[in-house]
Amino acid sequence: MKKFYLTTAIDYANGSPHLGHAYEKVLSDVIVRHRRLLGVDVHFLTGLDEHGQKVQQGARAEGMEPQERCDLIAEEFIVLLEKLRISNDDYLRTTQDRHKRVVRTLLQQLYDRGEIYQAEYCGYYSSRAEQFLQEKDKVDGKWPEIFGEVVEVTESNYFFKLGQYQEWLIDFLSENDDFIQPEFRRNQVLEFLKEPINDLCISRPRERLEWGIPLPFDESYVTYVWFDALVNYVSAAGFGDEGFDSLWPADVHVIGKDILVPPHSVYWPIMLKACGLPLPKSILVHGWWMISGAKMSKSTGESVDPLELVDLRGADAFRYFVMREMTVGQDADFTLERFDSRYHADLGNDLGNLLSRILNMTARYCDGKVPEATIAEKPESDLADLWDEAHVGARELFDEYKFNLGLEKIFVFIRGINRYAEERSPWKLAKSEAIEDRAKLETSLAFIVEALRLAVALLAPVMPGVNDQVNKLLGIAATTLWEEDLVWDHRLAGNALGPKTILFPRD
Ligand code: ME8
Ligand code: MG
Repeated sequence: MKKFYLTTAIDYANGSPHLGHAYEKVLSDVIVRHRRLLGVDVHFLTGLDEHGQKVQQGARAEGMEPQERCDLIAEEFIVLLEKLRISNDDYLRTTQDRHKRVVRTLLQQLYDRGEIYQAEYCGYYSSRAEQFLQEKDKVDGKWPEIFGEVVEVTESNYFFKLGQYQEWLIDFLSENDDFIQPEFRRNQVLEFLKEPINDLCISRPRERLEWGIPLPFDESYVTYVWFDALVNYVSAAGFGDEGFDSLWPADVHVIGKDILVPPHSVYWPIMLKACGLPLPKSILVHGWWMISGAKMSKSTGESVDPLELVDLRGADAFRYFVMREMTVGQDADFTLERFDSRYHADLGNDLGNLLSRILNMTARYCDGKVPEATIAEKPESDLADLWDEAHVGARELFDEYKFNLGLEKIFVFIRGINRYAEERSPWKLAKSEAIEDRAKLETSLAFIVEALRLAVALLAPVMPGVNDQVNKLLGIAATTLWEEDLVWDHRLAGNALGPKTILFPRD
């Protein structure tokens, strides 16, 4: 049976994780949790990209061996995944044997088929920056100071015949308009493909770069890091093993916009085509988190440490914020003020207070047990209608990756529950001796608790921790299948509720 196979970009092991890395993992996790709640069998891969010049340089700068430094960084990324409650099924590191073996197998296959050739490459080389330069790197006609001495060198390298697949790729992209999502990103790729593409240099001589996978047909070279990294999606799926077909082709590659063109939209489809492997079904391209309008970057020191936020506010608050604030595909600006305002208004006031209120009232008026709903008047039917609208709408929006709008709908419902509570005012009904007021009181508590259960079930892909915690307080197992759990059936009647709990504490 084919599983729903989702991958993320594998993060560069040349620095600590930042908000962008955390966002991509959360987005991917929300997508797979959503699928699982729909009953789909999922396989979720993420991992670490460990080879290449920057990693080697970074390690040297700290007086470490590259592998040693990668291990430390892997640890940091894995801690982040755990803290964010990312439910990945696998974690691939490109230094693992299972990966290196597949990279070498594919390279050998391509070499044997004549898809790879050796040629002289002539260009400008900066030994200080350890990289080839182009005319466009010049400033006012001169090489900038940072490059040190620049010399013209001729170097022999191996090239992969990308160019011959250009027409095929253009046709493929033109015919498959949902291959790249959101769709406007496809035009960017087609635009890039208007110019002839060069063959891809896939080797680096070992005297310049040691930290890589040796080419199987010439061990004096290592593999170019992008050729190595992209292969992770098939090496982790067990290329060459029996189970491979149950995963490959991937259903979605989730990546950021900076690595669409050319690696994921040009190199990768062509590599697969040349290897005779099917293409992934889609690529979902997200935008960037910006800080005051600029991309976060290590060089400017403008960065947000997601771990700090998670430690301060909890994983669910972080997950809610990034999913609520970003339209998938667009950029978004991060500010702490915005984070705090979502935390206090949506989570603290609308959701958190609702929970503590219902626990409180049930304890005071009904001995802590969920009462029966015995009447159904207009306030009750209005609330049920609001639920129908919210969950049908939110589910559709989640299907379309419009998580921010789906969450907005769910919070319209949550605010509707609060309005219903105000309207019925159980605390006033409790003061009355009349039998019909007692019925209204019990009914209103039953409705509030049922509506809250449903709202939390609908939030489960985004806030799995809240889902666990609230369901425990309600005396039932956490949501695992929407088909069963998203049914308004007052299943909690008679349940003893847990103690008063603050979900989102104020400072
Ligand atoms: O690109 N906002 O690794 P990486 C949102 N190793 N997303 C961001 C971001 C930001 N400010 N900054 C980075 C690499 N990202 C390669 C990938 S895949 C075979 C190899 C995203 O650590 C970025 O777009 O630089 C990418 O999808 C992911 O974080 C890892 O970036
Ligand atoms: Mg990057």
